[in-house]
Amino acid sequence: MTDRVDAAARLRELPARAVPDPDAPTDQDGSLSPIRAVTRQIAFDPGGWTPQRAAKIAELFDGLAPQWGERSGPQRRAALTDALERGEVHASVCVEVGSGTGTFTEVLARRFETVLAVDLSLEMLRRAPATVGTRLWADAARLPMGDGSVDAVVLVNMFLFADELARVLRPGGAVVWVSSLGPRTPIYLAPVEVLEALGPGWSGVASAWGEATWCVARR
Ligand SMILES: C[S@@+](CC[C@H](N)C(=O)[O-])C[C@H]1O[C@@H](n2cnc3c(N)ncnc32)[C@H](O)[C@@H]1O
Repeated sequence: MTDRVDAAARLRELPARAVPDPDAPTDQDGSLSPIRAVTRQIAFDPGGWTPQRAAKIAELFDGLAPQWGERSGPQRRAALTDALERGEVHASVCVEVGSGTGTFTEVLARRFETVLAVDLSLEMLRRAPATVGTRLWADAARLPMGDGSVDAVVLVNMFLFADELARVLRPGGAVVWVSSLGPRTPIYLAPVEVLEALGPGWSGVASAWGEATWCVARR
């Protein structure tokens, strides 16, 4: 709990922007999803990510890929834009980790010179637009980027591989964490948990946009 208190001291909360989201499902409580426990394990116990687990997760999302595009509307993209603007994210090279079918890649491609969209699921990547950013089939636990070569890493509804993000980001580079359904997002960490998982050298700002919550963290 000391780590959590310490992380809270490094987090500045900005006022929430309350915008009703007509796309938000009302029948979903992500906190009950089994994937929530996996999310916490990956963030706080990196040894929990094994080849077997990677294969299972890839299979899961391969199966979800055909319907994935139906989940998102403009409201979700607006929450990411809010995080980038109020989080003051300025980047040339941006990596989107867990980019899925590319819902958020176009928001990033409009703002940043180079956008690398990384996903473990080939079926997700195959459905993402080929002309927006550069799609990469890779595991976020072993990103195909050099140390300190990236200005911003964006994760929307994705697992947090803290050590690997820290490795590829340049000093002062930003981790952008967005949970589209706030605490109801199945793959969810509260902003304070994101800072706790990243570790003592990190601080950040956090807020909410409609139902979404976000955090922008830097070293
Ligand atoms: C909940 S989906 C979110 C997709 C997209 N960001 C969105 O919100 O629409 C999580 C995505 O992360 C991908 N993913 C899961 N584990 C990954 C890993 N270790 N490396 C790269 N991508 C991963 C999944 O294949 C899936 O596309």
